[in-house]
Amino acid sequence: MPATVVVGSQWGDEGKGRVVDLLAADADIVVRYQGGNNAGHTVWIGEEKFAVHLVPTGVLRGKLSVLGGGMVIDLDVLLQEEEELSSRGIEVKSNIRISENAHLILPYHKLIEEQEEKRRGKQAIGTTLRGIGPAYEDKAARRGLRVGDLRDRQSLTDRLHDAIAFKNELLKKVYTARGVDPDKVYHDLVTLHDHFADNICDTSLIVQEALDAKKNVLFEGAHGTLLDIDWGTYPYVTSSNPLSGEVTAGAGIPPKLIDRIIGAAKAYTSRVGAGPFPTAVDETTAEKMREPGGEFGSTTGRARGIGWFDAMVVRKSVRLNGIEELAITHLDVLDQFDEIPVCVGYQCGGREVAHFPNQITDLARCEPVYETLPGWKSDTSQAKSFSDLPDNARRYVERIGELAGAPVTYVLVGREREQSIIR
Ligand code: GDP
Ligand code: IMO
Ligand code: MG
Repeated sequence: MPATVVVGSQWGDEGKGRVVDLLAADADIVVRYQGGNNAGHTVWIGEEKFAVHLVPTGVLRGKLSVLGGGMVIDLDVLLQEEEELSSRGIEVKSNIRISENAHLILPYHKLIEEQEEKRRGKQAIGTTLRGIGPAYEDKAARRGLRVGDLRDRQSLTDRLHDAIAFKNELLKKVYTARGVDPDKVYHDLVTLHDHFADNICDTSLIVQEALDAKKNVLFEGAHGTLLDIDWGTYPYVTSSNPLSGEVTAGAGIPPKLIDRIIGAAKAYTSRVGAGPFPTAVDETTAEKMREPGGEFGSTTGRARGIGWFDAMVVRKSVRLNGIEELAITHLDVLDQFDEIPVCVGYQCGGREVAHFPNQITDLARCEPVYETLPGWKSDTSQAKSFSDLPDNARRYVERIGELAGAPVTYVLVGREREQSIIR
């Protein structure tokens, strides 16, 4: 490895969980560096489905798992996740470390988000309603509470009461909604802190020491590049930076320590929540792909929108993240088609567009330009090596890698661990 980053190169749900799980077999530590429990990373172990939201996927392989400082953490959800996984034989408590710098998601964040999505009406983002945006808002406004703030109870009481007085005014006067009870919030937080106190520390020290000792550290991106708050399809994005560059700020390591950057991409595209989606397919086609592709939100259960592979999207991700290798997932979902369209570029008003636009108003005017590749109409799910794949499937994989601008080093052909081809 030693420092390897896995980023989502589309709009999330690329199968990052699967790719991280595959690489985690050789990792010493797995680190999340941004986002919160808006993420949902699914791994099947035999017939059992595991979906992790806050805890890094490495925990499923018993690896030391770090929740980095760039994350926003709902400790209540973390406790539920710990209990769920432990009841199924996965050790969580002794394997996780929580950054004291990570910001807390508090009950009022979720209430405010619910009200704000309602207020937006037709312009709602379609968020996961986990309080992510409002928690990052407070972080940027310098009024957030961090995990490390839970230790000093006097200061916690003061800051929490001050924060809740303000949030309750907002909830009651602006949104005409109910507020939260400060004593209950305090009590719940203190109980959660008592439970996790031994897990909370300066996680950047752990990560840097591991890298100094030449250990293998895997950084697990959440969401996807097109959901990045700066470089995604703003405003239909999340509130953090999934980009590989965020590893430095979010995990607390200098950029020069990163060795390898892998982009996870579906062999097609999916999108959940509102916002533009140039290569979206018709609903009949989407339905054929949803079941085999597991295209229901791991966090919210929503049916995902489906589209053809969009090389403009992945090319942008390759450029912004410095992706040197692609892990293509869900190739098996395309087994059923005679022909497979791939978006090779966009046209706007009859003119070719060189790069994926940054403004969604520009994107809305773009028409995808397709190249049609022949399908292979046979089962790829049992392939163990690249040469086992039908000729047209190999050509498809090579072509999308070529269009995206990075070689394909992993091909995933099913939801199970064994259904992975390493080139
Ligand atoms: P993540 O958020 O990027 O980790 O992706 P999710 O776990 O949210 O969504 C990916 C879905 O596709 C899950 O239901 C996985 O079980 C499933 N999956 C992952 N890789 C493959 C694959 O190669 N083929 C198929 N058919 N399903 C896959
Ligand atoms: P993983 O890590 C897919 C989307 C939401 C919504 C927008 C903002 O599983 O790939 P938020 O709750 O973050 O404020 O919602 O971002 N979104 C995701 N879509 N996969 C994810 O994570 C996502 N995380 C956020 O659907 O459109
Ligand atoms: Mg997901």
